[in-house]
Amino acid sequence: MDSTARSAPVIEVKHLRKRFAGNIALEDVSLTVGEGEIFGFIGPNGAGKTTTIRILATLLEPTAGQVRISGLCVQNDTEEVRRIIGYMPDQYGLYDGLTVEEYLEFFAGAYRIPPRLRRSTLGDVMDLTDLGPLRRRMVSSLSRGMKQRLCLAKTLIHDPRLLILDEPAAALDPRARIELRMLLKELRRMGKTIFISSHILTELSDICTSVGIIEKGRLIECGSIDQIKQRSTKKARVEIHLHEPRPEAIDILKLSPEVERCSLDGKRLSFDYLGRPEDFHRVLKLLVDNRIPLLSVAQDTRNLEHLFMELTKGDVQ
Ligand SMILES: Nc1ncnc2c1ncn2[C@@H]1O[C@H](COP(=O)(O)OP(=O)(O)OP(=O)(O)O)[C@@H](O)[C@H]1O
Ligand SMILES: [Mg+2]
Repeated sequence: MDSTARSAPVIEVKHLRKRFAGNIALEDVSLTVGEGEIFGFIGPNGAGKTTTIRILATLLEPTAGQVRISGLCVQNDTEEVRRIIGYMPDQYGLYDGLTVEEYLEFFAGAYRIPPRLRRSTLGDVMDLTDLGPLRRRMVSSLSRGMKQRLCLAKTLIHDPRLLILDEPAAALDPRARIELRMLLKELRRMGKTIFISSHILTELSDICTSVGIIEKGRLIECGSIDQIKQRSTKKARVEIHLHEPRPEAIDILKLSPEVERCSLDGKRLSFDYLGRPEDFHRVLKLLVDNRIPLLSVAQDTRNLEHLFMELTKGDVQ
């Protein structure tokens, strides 16, 4: 690979558009993923995640726009791009009649790993994915989580620089999800760049260095989680614990133009505050002046899921 390809972003998508028989699946999607990032591609069902991923993986032609992987064009430099990427589809078939080791040996051959390197390559990927103890098991006897690890091991055999994983956590139990997260962090430490899609947000927020949020074919937010939070947290959700239930607190708060979506659940008073942080004490003063006894005040620290719901207006299909 020449130095231009090395210094280019690992993924560069510009004005990507995809139309299927009159239906627009992607509209003007642009994003960049730098070396060593874990990029979370988040969106509800039908948003366009798999369509984008299949274009990145050279399996689908875009209707318009450009996609470069390490500076190479996915449409013109297909073979080179395929050598750089490891793609794990959302649905995959495995050959049931083989053992784990035979299955991986088959793909080592398909990827043209030289015979003298095959044993060590297979040993490395089985160590990484914890498949060593299962090497002689028949693929048909593996659990879903084990099969998924096997598919990931297959994806790693040719030592790809970029991993493109379409909903790898779907259908995994909580423990297998934690193991997957640890594995992805380990792969990042090894220098891989990872593009991973999900509609389950909380599991990505602690491993991703940046995220893109897609809805109805449009990328509606992109950047680090902190950047997105900053842009979308002009509002703060506030929760006040009262000493006793006081329904009139709602009418009192409505006097403030900076308060929205106010509700009272027992002694828990919640609302959105839209004003400047330094003016927040005025809202509290309003309550105190009206003899509403307050026990505690907390601001909601938003997680990605909360943010996503706001960004997509809860419009999850
Ligand atoms: N081969 C196809 N032919 C026609 N329409 C398609 C095709 N593939 C995808 N679409 C449409 O494109 C849109 C995006 O689908 P896509 O599979 O990319 O969504 P997704 O975000 O991966 O959803 P999910 O979370 O369900 O996997 C949908 O409206 C879908 O119906
Ligand atoms: Mg999909």
